[in-house]
Amino acid sequence: MEFSAFFKGLTISSLSAVLALASFGPQQAQGQKQPDTAKMPWMNKALSPDQRADMVLSQMTLDEKIQMVHGTGWGVLRAGDPIAPGSNFGAGYMLGIERLGIPGINMADSAVGIRMAAIQSRYATLLPSTLGAAASWDPDAGFLYGSVIGREARAQGFNMSIGGGLDITREPRNGRNFEYAGEDPVLAGVMTGELARGVKSEHVMSDIKHYALNDQETGRTVVNVLLDKRSMRESDLLAFEIAIGIAKPSAVMCSYNLVDGDHACENDYLLNQVLKKDWGFKGFVVSDWSATHSTVKAALNGLDQDMPGDDNYFSDPLKKAVEDGQVPAARLDNMVHRILRSMFDAGVIDNPPVRSVVDPFRGRDDAQHIAEESIVLLKNSGDILPLKADPSTSIAIIGSHADVGVVSGGGSAQVDAPGGNVIDPKPGPSPWGQTIYFPSSPLRYIRAKSPQSNVQYIDGKDNTAAARLAKSSSLAIVFVTQPMREGVDAPTLSLPDNQDALVEAVAAANPNTIVVLETGGPVTMPWAQQVKGIVEMWYPGIGGAQALSNILFGDVNPSGKLAVTFAKSDAQLPHPTVPGLEAKVKTTGDDQHHEVAPFDLKYTAGAAVGYKWFEETHKQPLFPFGFGLSYTTFAYSSLTVDDATRTAHFTVKNTGQREGTEIAQLYVALPPAAKEHFKRLAGWQRVELAPGESKTVSLTLNPLYLSIFDTAKDAWQLLPGDYKVMAGASSSDTPLNATLHVQP
Ligand code: BGC
Repeated sequence: MEFSAFFKGLTISSLSAVLALASFGPQQAQGQKQPDTAKMPWMNKALSPDQRADMVLSQMTLDEKIQMVHGTGWGVLRAGDPIAPGSNFGAGYMLGIERLGIPGINMADSAVGIRMAAIQSRYATLLPSTLGAAASWDPDAGFLYGSVIGREARAQGFNMSIGGGLDITREPRNGRNFEYAGEDPVLAGVMTGELARGVKSEHVMSDIKHYALNDQETGRTVVNVLLDKRSMRESDLLAFEIAIGIAKPSAVMCSYNLVDGDHACENDYLLNQVLKKDWGFKGFVVSDWSATHSTVKAALNGLDQDMPGDDNYFSDPLKKAVEDGQVPAARLDNMVHRILRSMFDAGVIDNPPVRSVVDPFRGRDDAQHIAEESIVLLKNSGDILPLKADPSTSIAIIGSHADVGVVSGGGSAQVDAPGGNVIDPKPGPSPWGQTIYFPSSPLRYIRAKSPQSNVQYIDGKDNTAAARLAKSSSLAIVFVTQPMREGVDAPTLSLPDNQDALVEAVAAANPNTIVVLETGGPVTMPWAQQVKGIVEMWYPGIGGAQALSNILFGDVNPSGKLAVTFAKSDAQLPHPTVPGLEAKVKTTGDDQHHEVAPFDLKYTAGAAVGYKWFEETHKQPLFPFGFGLSYTTFAYSSLTVDDATRTAHFTVKNTGQREGTEIAQLYVALPPAAKEHFKRLAGWQRVELAPGESKTVSLTLNPLYLSIFDTAKDAWQLLPGDYKVMAGASSSDTPLNATLHVQP
């Protein structure tokens, strides 16, 4: 996929021409004859979405059906492309059938907030990255995340969100990890499922993407992923299975890559056999943008809607294929049924979006709350944190534009910054390839916490000058960033732009150095031993600096725990370099991507992703999955397991001086017959504890999380035998053990 054209050449005058061409959505259309809903029995809300969809379908002509299974083109995404009337200027648009009272589907990219608000001078909340939100391990935060997206989509006139990224972190350098939810299928599946449920709770159609195994950006349209079926079902696909089970999303977006020889959007195994048959998915499969490669094969193998729809696979060619009998008419009906039933199910027909002013304050508060639960305290030597408001302290704030803002992820996940990029404010939408900083200033909020301290900022471009300021201060806080975006992977886990040298220079000048990370995913930290504090705040969103200052000064006790393993080096990963990355980098304008010839990518690690890989290969990471510190301490005791109910009980006690929240984790190792050499996350609970307080945590084990996928039987199987159940504070700190006996 070539994205160099995104927004390029979209001058203000061409934009106004575009705006003039288009109307403002069906519900705003002036003077149009409204359909007589009294003559539309499918408008009866008492009927099921399936019944209602069938009633509409029975009235539709072949042309109307064809119209629903493809979009109207690149529209606003590509300079000069026409914009269909009724489009809301989002990433995708399907025309409605007005005579039947069926609105169009206006799709908003919304991985971390609604994209492309700027072209209509609208506002959207930038949420923390979903990888950050996953570090909250808080399903309620996931739901809130989705509801913010749903709420703001509705207010902007969109009735479908195409966020919901869920490719697990097989490749920690993947440029889109910040749009996903980490390396564990259960945690990622639950968090993304809750997110998609939150979207739908606002009467907006939800989506989960990119299905499947789109685990790196390098060569994403040509890479053929090879992974044995058992591993696939127990890792990448399990995440989707869990999320789809929770959310019953309106759509699943198939990905660009190939899996076992077939493109994901025409892959019978992925779409027909697994998604629709095994998981009973009732929504529709929408293609990623230009990820469709055929008409008959894609239609027969499970694709329901081609987007953005300019490839013409699902327009006249599909009509002809239906007329010729190459694609049965019943299959086309099934595509349309799936789309219609999802519209009724989400409520976009009964409760269409109503344009309103997005509430930026509510959005910021929600974003800040999620950020406060997402920030992970990785190191706190000598209790350097929390900081105290103290007039005698002087604080050096160094680097990463921490005087004015926080960094965000790019590509189709970019949300327009209020007023433009705070370090380079320009009118118009955020360019595709640019690194954007949002106006949430760490300097300002740190100053506000300790107004009488001498807090000074230096940009960190000159290590010597930064070290000089650090030396003359009582404390130094260095901000480091790893900007990432769609289309490009990080070449290594190292921080870019020599930032390691900056941290080392500052740490050498001042022993009281704290590093704040704003990264898309895991990074290496060669200086970890030389600094006293390390705080990972991901891409923290529009309330990021407020959340950070609350954590740094102890108004909020950190509770986040890593949803990804942080390796010590690239050499520890299954692939020491990103496969395909050695190929030529092509830069066109502000777009940079790798020109790669088609290649096979065999995932020999199987289901051993992240912490499972580290355990299986006996490697010690820098920071393990599930790890995160608090300003208080917790003790674990008394694990028991009840075989009959498959419930584990254990006690967590707050042994410190402050109130805090512990994410208590439960892992399980399967019996030897499973031939598996790692533990699996099987459950967790966020436990709020006052100082000295104890609580019993009870977690009932979900058999799916303990099962293996038996490829001979093509089914999940819970093996009989002894399961080792472990409880503790992270994947590598499980002090409690017990045995669960599963009878044959
Ligand atoms: C991305 C999708 C996105 C679509 C529409 C593609 O490049 O992979 O995630 O939804 O563009 O913008």
